[in-house]
Amino acid sequence: MKNPFTLGLASDEKFCNRKKEIKELKTFIKNSQNVVIYSPRRYGKTSLIKKILKDINKENKNFITIYADLFPISSYQDLVEILSKAVIEGIGREINKSFIKKIQNLFKSIVPSFTIKPDGSFSISFSYNPNIPIETLLSDIFEGLNNYITSKKLEVVVVLDEFQEITTLPEAHKIEGIIRSYIQNHQNISYFFVGSRRRLLLDMFTDKNKPFYKSSFLYELKKIPENEFVRCIIKNFEKTGKICAEAIARKIYNLVEGYPYYVQKFSSISWDLTNKKVTEKTVLQALEILINIEKADFENVWINLNYSEKALLKAIVKFGGSQIFSKDFIQKSGLSIGGIQKAVKSLLEKDIIEQTQNKTYRLTDPVMKLWLLREI
Ligand SMILES: Nc1ncnc2c1ncn2[C@@H]1O[C@H](COP(=O)(O)OP(=O)(O)OP(=O)(O)O)[C@@H](O)[C@H]1O
Ligand SMILES: [Mg+2]
Repeated sequence: MKNPFTLGLASDEKFCNRKKEIKELKTFIKNSQNVVIYSPRRYGKTSLIKKILKDINKENKNFITIYADLFPISSYQDLVEILSKAVIEGIGREINKSFIKKIQNLFKSIVPSFTIKPDGSFSISFSYNPNIPIETLLSDIFEGLNNYITSKKLEVVVVLDEFQEITTLPEAHKIEGIIRSYIQNHQNISYFFVGSRRRLLLDMFTDKNKPFYKSSFLYELKKIPENEFVRCIIKNFEKTGKICAEAIARKIYNLVEGYPYYVQKFSSISWDLTNKKVTEKTVLQALEILINIEKADFENVWINLNYSEKALLKAIVKFGGSQIFSKDFIQKSGLSIGGIQKAVKSLLEKDIIEQTQNKTYRLTDPVMKLWLLREI
C-alpha cells in the first residue's frame, strides 16, 4: 500500500474538509468580487484554490478559471509571460487547433506561438517588440481578457498566487497602479490575490499610499478544524489497512498545533513507521524524525537573525509570549524595551512570530518552536 498522506498539494481524495471556506470563496467568485487570501506558509491556500477552480470548471460552463503562480518572477518580462500563458490556458482549457484560431486576436502586441510536441501536446511561447512599454503589455493581457469574455458573455476568476512577489520588481508601484485600474473596471471578473508573506501582502492592500488600498476583501485562511482533520487522518489509515485510534490522531494534530503541512507530514512519517496500529511510542518517534528533517531549515533562519531577535524568540518559547513588555519578561529576556520592540517588529515582518487574538505573541511555526525548545 502507498502512503496516503501528501507533502505536495492536497487534491482529490487527499483534500480534507474546508467546506465553509469553499462556500464562502465561491460566493465571492459568483459576485465577481476581489479577495486577498492570506495565511502563514503551507496552510493550504494553493490546495484550496485549485480545488475550487476544479469544481467551478466542472459545475459551470460559462466560467473561465485562470491561475498564475507569480512566485518565480524576477522581471516584468517574467510577469508578462506568466500572465499571458495563464490567460491562454484558462481560455483554452484544452489547447488544440480550433482553440488556436479562437485566441488569434486576443492580444494586440503579444504574439503567442505554439509548438506541437512529439506526444501531440502543445507548448506556448510569447514574443513582442521589446520597445513596447509595460503599460501596453499589461493592457493587452487584462483588457484582452475582459474584451474576450464580454463578447462571449462569460465570467472569470483570476487567481494570482504569491501576488506579493510583484513588490520585488523595480517597476512595482507602476505595475500595481496599472493592475488596480483594470480590476476596478472589470464587472465580470473576480480577482483573487493569494500569498503567504502576510505583512507584505497586507501592506499592499491596507496602506493608504499604495495602489491596491481598499480594493479587495481581506480573507484569512485558518487552520483546518481539529475534528475534521482527525477524521481525515483516521480514514487515511483505515483505507490503507492500518489503524489509528482517535486519541492518537488528536495527538498528532495537537503536537503540531493543527498546522496543515505538519499534520500531513507527521501523519505520513507515523504511517511509515506503523505496521498495523499506530502507538503513542510510534508518534513520539515520528515527531523526533520530523524535527530532524526540518532542522536544517530552522538553522538557516536562525543564523540570519540578530542577537535581539534570537533572545526574544528564546524568551517567548521559554516563558510564553503573553506579557512581553512586562518587567518580569524584560528582565528574563535580558533585552531592553527598545530591543524587544525592534525585534518584535522585524520578526513579525519576517513572519517568524505572529500575534494571536488575545495579544499574545507566538512562533508562527510550531515545529520550529519544538526545535528551539530542544536546543535551549
Ligand atoms: N485541505 C487540505 N487537506 C489536507 N491537507 C492539506 C489541505 N490543505 C493543505 N494541506 C497540506 O498542507 C500543505 C500545504 O498546502 P499548500 O501548498 O496548498 O499550502 P499553501 O498555503 O499554498 O503553501 P505556500 O505558502 O507554501 O504556498 C500540503 O502539503 C498539504 O499536504
Ligand atoms: Mg501556495
